[in-house]
Amino acid sequence: MRSSLLSRRSFLRMAGAAGAAAYAAKAGGLERVAEANQSVAGRTAEEVAKDEFYWREIQLAFKLDRSLINLNNGFTSPAPRVVLESVWRYMDMINMLPIHYQGMVAGNIQTIRRRMAAEFGCEPEELALTRGASESLQIAQNGIDLKAGDEVITTEQDYPRMLTTWDQRMRREGIKVTRLQFPVPARQDDLFQRFEKAITPRTKVFHFCHITNLTAQMFPVQRLSRLARSKGIVTIVDGAHALGHFPFKLGDLECDAYGVSLHKWLLAPIGNGCLYVRREMIPKFWPLQAAPEQQDDDIRKFEAIGTHPWAIRAALGEALAFHQAIGAERKAARLRALTLRWANALKVHPRVKILSNLGEPAEAWGVAAVNIEGIDVRDLAKFLMDKYRIIAVPLVGGAPPNQVFDYQALRVSPNIYTTLEEIDTFVTAMEDALKEGVPTTAAASSSGPSDTLDWADIR
Ligand SMILES: Cc1ncc(COP(=O)(O)O)c(C=O)c1O
Repeated sequence: MRSSLLSRRSFLRMAGAAGAAAYAAKAGGLERVAEANQSVAGRTAEEVAKDEFYWREIQLAFKLDRSLINLNNGFTSPAPRVVLESVWRYMDMINMLPIHYQGMVAGNIQTIRRRMAAEFGCEPEELALTRGASESLQIAQNGIDLKAGDEVITTEQDYPRMLTTWDQRMRREGIKVTRLQFPVPARQDDLFQRFEKAITPRTKVFHFCHITNLTAQMFPVQRLSRLARSKGIVTIVDGAHALGHFPFKLGDLECDAYGVSLHKWLLAPIGNGCLYVRREMIPKFWPLQAAPEQQDDDIRKFEAIGTHPWAIRAALGEALAFHQAIGAERKAARLRALTLRWANALKVHPRVKILSNLGEPAEAWGVAAVNIEGIDVRDLAKFLMDKYRIIAVPLVGGAPPNQVFDYQALRVSPNIYTTLEEIDTFVTAMEDALKEGVPTTAAASSSGPSDTLDWADIR
């Protein structure tokens, strides 16, 4: 009780602009989170999700441009100050004498591998640290042996770069790629059955998202992985949006390979990702850059990419500490509360359609998609930006190898630093669009791959 009062008092001291400056000057961002934690000790994640005193402390841990409202954190999230500061620190150190310090920092990365594995539920020897989900997934996609005629089953709503990777193998090696369509939101049973029905004797790989980058559709990863394994099919799972977003353990998924972006929901500096490969499967995947035979069953073979900025990778340790200081459950509960706040306010309007599963059990946290009947979503995004300085990404389907889907939606992805006032401004802006309409533009009347590819790059 006493510590709680103290924390609240210290929060009030910090709350004004001067407080924010003092906060910025104070190096120990993690100490402030720890102090805020004391004030909510013993309360459930759902209770803490509603505690604005607590989240104000978290908001102050970031250096942001609050003249804009960023509802596109699904693209890449800002990293907290404490994380960014550690990038500069490692950069500075390595730059003093690269041959000496770079090797030292590289050696210390083993600690981060161990801590990441412990937090996310796998063996350290199953986790490679990479530069992002594209790299992780392409290691798996390009690294698995396939012959002409072998089949990969994926979906039309998988990530464009990953679909392009399969498309290239199709053009280069004559593999067959089956892209399944599904309605949104979909039931996990339905998704399971679509994969099950599509299997043929030539099926060698299942590739799907844990949670899509479009409407945050969740897939039944464990069930699909078990089905695949029972038939000798390899599972490659796109977890770009999953790790650090909502709690789960990698080992429980039972998939063969799982690629992640750590600069999204783990709040790591841009240029961090990881690749989980089930221990027995490591020798089955070739690395992107050649490795000696002795490394066939060593997870590190996927990390050898020559000289690269080790400072970025080393700062992952700080991002993990920040994540752990708040806690996976609290983060997920807050993200869900922010999403439900705007979605519940808007869904009462008959022209508003939510394309994500928002019910219980929870299948949506910081990402959900919405549209307004009768308004082109590209016009809507432009209106939000022009009039309210809100950034949210319009989703419009394209043609292969890009994503193909027949709905339009605005993807809304706040983050733990987002304020209630920012969420409420989004609701106001959407109600304005509903009531008054939005200006139509030439961009909205054109369609096709080049148009959608531009947007695909900012998802
Ligand atoms: C579902 C999905 N897969 C893969 C990626 C690629 O991730 P990265 O940009 O970290 O390479 C993204 C990025 O937005 C994504 O949303």
